[in-house]
Amino acid sequence: MKFFIDTADVGEIKKALALGLCDGVTTNPSLVAKTGRAFEDVLKEIVGLVPGPISAEVTATDAEGMLAEGRHYAKFGKQVVIKVPLIVEGLRAAKTFADEGIKTNVTLCFSPVQALLAAKAGATYISPFVGRLDDVSEDGMSMVADIIQIYRNYGFKTQVLVASVRHPIHVLQAAKLGADVATIPYSVIEQLAKHPLTDVGLKKFLADWEKVPKAPK
Ligand code: G3P
Repeated sequence: MKFFIDTADVGEIKKALALGLCDGVTTNPSLVAKTGRAFEDVLKEIVGLVPGPISAEVTATDAEGMLAEGRHYAKFGKQVVIKVPLIVEGLRAAKTFADEGIKTNVTLCFSPVQALLAAKAGATYISPFVGRLDDVSEDGMSMVADIIQIYRNYGFKTQVLVASVRHPIHVLQAAKLGADVATIPYSVIEQLAKHPLTDVGLKKFLADWEKVPKAPK
């Protein structure tokens, strides 16, 4: 499973790259707003750092507007993937982008049939939002399982990119289901590395090491 980092914060991207845990980046308007920077400056910097796929989200809500924004962002680098919302206009744009050879990430997916439409439109990635479904007492991961089954049934090439990941269990479940990608906030990447027994064990090893006689230098 590929690890994308779900952030527009260049500092977090650098930290994930140093860990070898940044196969790509996903941004969205809310994440960009948190940086307080102009999106084009942020995108240019990320393109210079990350060779893997970088999702840049359009904000137009009509297909023509999405196409204009997406064609512009696509010029920033060959790794730029245009993120469009899963609405009818977004599907129209995704189909045209596919015909033009521009990669897409169809976002804000909350049902398996929405994901089926995105695959038929030729989306490169589908982004099911698991955390936000869990928030309204639905099962985000069962949506992911259904999408993977549907895509396998028909051999769709669209990659399943699990989004709205909130905690390590989401990452575990995504990997068990065989999702292609999970896009993960940096805080969750750090949580994944942690186990209290690792800390306890390390403390004990270091304490015992103090008791080992040291050879004279
Ligand atoms: O990038 C989209 C998605 O991952 C957002 O997550 O936590 O705002 O639902 P969240």
